[in-house]
Amino acid sequence: MCPAKLTLTAPAKINLWLRILNKRPDGFHALETRMCPISVADVVTVERREDDVVSLSCSDESLPTDESNLALKALRLFENKTKLHHGWNIHLEKHIPHGAGLGGGSSDAASVLNALNQICGSPLSLTDLGELAGQLGSDVPFFLYQQTCDATGRGEIVTPVSFPWQLSLVLIKPGFGVPTPWAYQRWAASEELLGVRYTAQPCEWGEMINDLERPVFQKFLLLPTLKSWLLEQPETVAALMSGSGSTMYAVAKSPADAETLAEKARILCGESTWVRVAQTLIPEE
Ligand code: C5P
Repeated sequence: MCPAKLTLTAPAKINLWLRILNKRPDGFHALETRMCPISVADVVTVERREDDVVSLSCSDESLPTDESNLALKALRLFENKTKLHHGWNIHLEKHIPHGAGLGGGSSDAASVLNALNQICGSPLSLTDLGELAGQLGSDVPFFLYQQTCDATGRGEIVTPVSFPWQLSLVLIKPGFGVPTPWAYQRWAASEELLGVRYTAQPCEWGEMINDLERPVFQKFLLLPTLKSWLLEQPETVAALMSGSGSTMYAVAKSPADAETLAEKARILCGESTWVRVAQTLIPEE
């Protein structure tokens, strides 16, 4: 029997590296990135209704709940592909900030696809779901897997990888967000700021680097300042921007060091700044 209602966690992601190879003729950028799901997550509830009404609600009232929301776009693509039309209640309990480079909206959309497919008796394969996810956004296919993946193409070609490290993280999201199209558009013409570390940070799990730091740091000067500050702290192993920002994160030496670093970041940035301790998720055996 398929459930009529499912509640799924929709984790955020960080990019451990993001290298841009070139701008493609279609306007997207070819990239190589590794994304890890992390313990900060939204909660997505999808419930089948007896009537044919579709209703989307969201704990964050500043987010649109009309057809422009990726969660509803996911439903429409699913309906179109399966020809299954029902009434649905979809609720998004938001914990992932938006405009943050953490993939919140994309993760919600992937969870909606997964939930609809399970409730409807799995009419679509993972390959079908990946195709729909790719139409929703470049990083949506990654979120179907809920494990660390390497991604190529524009980010939609994903390969799960073994990633046994449970990294202790501190995430800092300033009050402003960064629009992703703007960050990519500025990449080619952007220049490095003096005194900021952009080069790869060698770690046990690979070389951490984000090519989008160059365009984003040029306009949002708080971010390179935060990165330099994080790198100076004794608790920090590495520090990077996630995706197109504005979240800066540090990998800390231990869970206790992550707590210490987060406390220092709250004092530095003020209580109104979003600061969280998190871990990378390791898939269950
Ligand atoms: O695919 P997604 O909707 O997340 O992309 C948002 C925008 O970011 C795209 O319209 C494009 O301008 C830019 N982008 C890009 N190259 C990528 C991913 C996104 O240029 N690989």
